[in-house]
Amino acid sequence: MNFIDQKFPSLRFRRTRKNEKIRNLVSETSLSANDFIWPLFICNGNNVEQDVPSMPGVKRRSIDRLVNAASEAFDLGIPAICLFPYTEQSKKTEDCAEAWNPDNLSNKATRAIKKEIPELVVMSDVALDPYNINGHDGFVENGKIVNDKTVEALVKQALSQAEAGSDVIGPSDMMDGRIGAIRSALEENGHSEVSIMSYAAKYSSSFYGPFRDAVGATGALTGDKKTYQMDIANSNEALRLVARDLKEGADMVMIKPGMPYLDICRRVKDTFGAPTFAYQVSGEYSMLSGAFEKGWLDRNKIIIETLMAFKRSGCDGILTYFAPEAAKLLK
Ligand code: PBG
Repeated sequence: MNFIDQKFPSLRFRRTRKNEKIRNLVSETSLSANDFIWPLFICNGNNVEQDVPSMPGVKRRSIDRLVNAASEAFDLGIPAICLFPYTEQSKKTEDCAEAWNPDNLSNKATRAIKKEIPELVVMSDVALDPYNINGHDGFVENGKIVNDKTVEALVKQALSQAEAGSDVIGPSDMMDGRIGAIRSALEENGHSEVSIMSYAAKYSSSFYGPFRDAVGATGALTGDKKTYQMDIANSNEALRLVARDLKEGADMVMIKPGMPYLDICRRVKDTFGAPTFAYQVSGEYSMLSGAFEKGWLDRNKIIIETLMAFKRSGCDGILTYFAPEAAKLLK
C-alpha cells in the first residue's frame, strides 16, 4: 500500500468520520443478508420445536417447522441454509448406513424445502458423525479412524444428498482425498451443477461442544478428532489444505471455527482469491449468548460487529446461527 507522506494538520482522519453519511461513503466493507448461510438442526416428528440448552435461542425442528423457518429466512433475503440432523440413538451404527439412506432426515428435509422454496440454496453436511455409534466422522477400526474406506462411504452420502436436491455438498469430515472422490462421483452421476463447499481448514476445536449437544453426538464421541481435524497451532497447513481441495474440485472453501481464526481467513483469501467462507460455530454463538443474557454485551451491536469482522477479514460469507436475527437488524 502506498502511504502518502502527509502529516497533521493536513492529515486529519476525523474529517472522514464526522457524520454517518461520510462514514458510509468511505467504508471499506459491507454486510448484508446476502452474506449469510443459516445452519439448521432437524429432528423427527410433526410440529416439534426443541430447545438446545447450550445454545439459547437455537432449536431443533421437525421438517414441517423447518420448512417454515427456511421460508422466513428466504423472505429476509438469506440465500442459503445448511442442514444438520439430530439422529436417534437407534439409527447410530458402526456401519453408518443411515448416512446414505435416501430417506434419512437430512434428505427428507432437503426434498421438502426444495419443493416449497426451490430458489433457497440448500447445503448438506457430509461426515459420518451423526450416524456413527462412536461419534467419529469416519469409520473406526481397531481404535483408528480409517481414511479410504470412509471416503467411499462419504461419496455414497454425498450422492444421496445430491439426489435429494442439495445444491451444495459440505464435506466436514477432514478425510484425505474426499473432495476429488466426491467431485468425480457427482460428475459421473449427472450432478455437474452441484457445488462443493469444502470444510478445508477445519481445526480440532473445543468450540464445537454445543453443536455436539444439538445433534446428539456428545455422549457418543470416544476420544478426540485430532487425527483428522487440524492442529490449532498451524497456519501454513491451512493454506496447503485449501490448495489441495481447490485442485481436487472444491468450488468454495471454509475456515472453521470463525472468530478465533480470522488470521487464517485473511491468508486464504489473499493467497487464493477463491470464494471463502467461515463458520461462526456453536461455541462462539454460546459464548456470545451467555454474555448477552448476563447483560454484559450489547446483543444487536455485537452480532453485527462479529459478522462485519468476517467480511473485513476477506470472507465472502459466513455460516452463522445469528443469520435471521442479523438479517432483520440489517434491514
Ligand atoms: C461434524 C460437524 C461439526 C460441526 C459441523 N459439522 C462438529 C465436529 O466436527 O465435531 C460443528 C459446527 C458448530 O460447532 O457449530 N462433522
